[in-house]
Amino acid sequence: MQLHKDFDLRALNTFGISVKCKYLIEIQEEDELPRAVEMATHFGYPFMVLGGGSNMLFTEDYEGSILYMRIPGISVEAVADDEVLVTAGAGVVWNDLVNFAVENGYGGLENLALIPGTVGASPIQNIGAYGVELQDVFESLRGYHLEQGFMDFDKKSCHFGYRQSVFKGALKGKFIVTQVRFRLSTKPVLKLHYGALQEALAQRGIQKPSIAQVAEVVSSVRVSKLPDPSSIGNAGSFFKNPEIPEEQFQRLKIDYPDMVGYPAGEGIVKASAAWLIESCGWKGKVVGPTGTYAKHALVLVNHGSATGSDIWALAQSIQRSVQERYGVLLEPEVNIIGQIHS
Ligand code: EPU
Repeated sequence: MQLHKDFDLRALNTFGISVKCKYLIEIQEEDELPRAVEMATHFGYPFMVLGGGSNMLFTEDYEGSILYMRIPGISVEAVADDEVLVTAGAGVVWNDLVNFAVENGYGGLENLALIPGTVGASPIQNIGAYGVELQDVFESLRGYHLEQGFMDFDKKSCHFGYRQSVFKGALKGKFIVTQVRFRLSTKPVLKLHYGALQEALAQRGIQKPSIAQVAEVVSSVRVSKLPDPSSIGNAGSFFKNPEIPEEQFQRLKIDYPDMVGYPAGEGIVKASAAWLIESCGWKGKVVGPTGTYAKHALVLVNHGSATGSDIWALAQSIQRSVQERYGVLLEPEVNIIGQIHS
């Protein structure tokens, strides 16, 4: 365990926002957690958990301790002729796990290639991309419950939903993920139905892709649409795609025939937040040191010197325009840390 005082978090959040926390406590092994939590509590400050910092917006200094999860390690257990259980520490970089799986011919994670962040954060918001969600390959996880100690969760107890889990709900602030186990396949049925993925495969003339080819194509689609946080600060999609009643969607379609949405269960449509934002004129707009990415309206960016409050102010302006024009509330997908200024 390592302790740093008054630590600048700029390099630890993909928005590249310079804010300080009182203490940063680096966790290398799960056994260190009970003491780290005790220490953080003893300091008398609140504390929070940080993985890759790829889904966080700090709007001010964090007056507390941050548990920075660095638990390493990937292990494999064969469970059937065509199935393996792969277990990874919370601190493993997500894309390193994807590469490990792809290199070993284990299918299931390839559509999730190049998502920023760490393994420990992946179940919290049930990460998803190109037609696959974490829950499709999730087996179980282990972590530390602040009141009940170490415990395991199977898939059902995680209550996964669209960018949602029990760890964002009832267990928010009470549970720290230390490792995640995935059920992967050596004879996978590849999921190729997502429009942008199909198009990219067709453009390359690939009809029966391998696991590695899917990962490669997904990576290149991501690179072409989403900014690389190491050059432009961002946290991927800033808002969730809003789920609205089908009736409301059909009514809006009358006035806005090109509005984009996908069925999301009985009577529910998941509207494209990117479309809503773009159609309100925000795509590629620069507002002081902030803006939206020119190639994807759902991605808010830091052009270099933005504070978290600058980005939050932009997010609120976007929310207001979408609400006024369409009567739809965009909810942040990113975790906003600090007081929320209105
Ligand atoms: N679109 C626009 N304007 C834009 C971009 C997109 O109108 O500037 C419309 C297009 O019609 C496009 C549709 O939105 O076909 C969907 O766009 P995209 O395929 O990029 O997906 P998304 O719904 O915007 C979601 C996830 C992404 C994930 C992609 C691919 C959420 C909030 N975001 O974005 O996840 O990579 O699908 O599966 O669900 C993230 O969570 O940070 C993230 C990047």
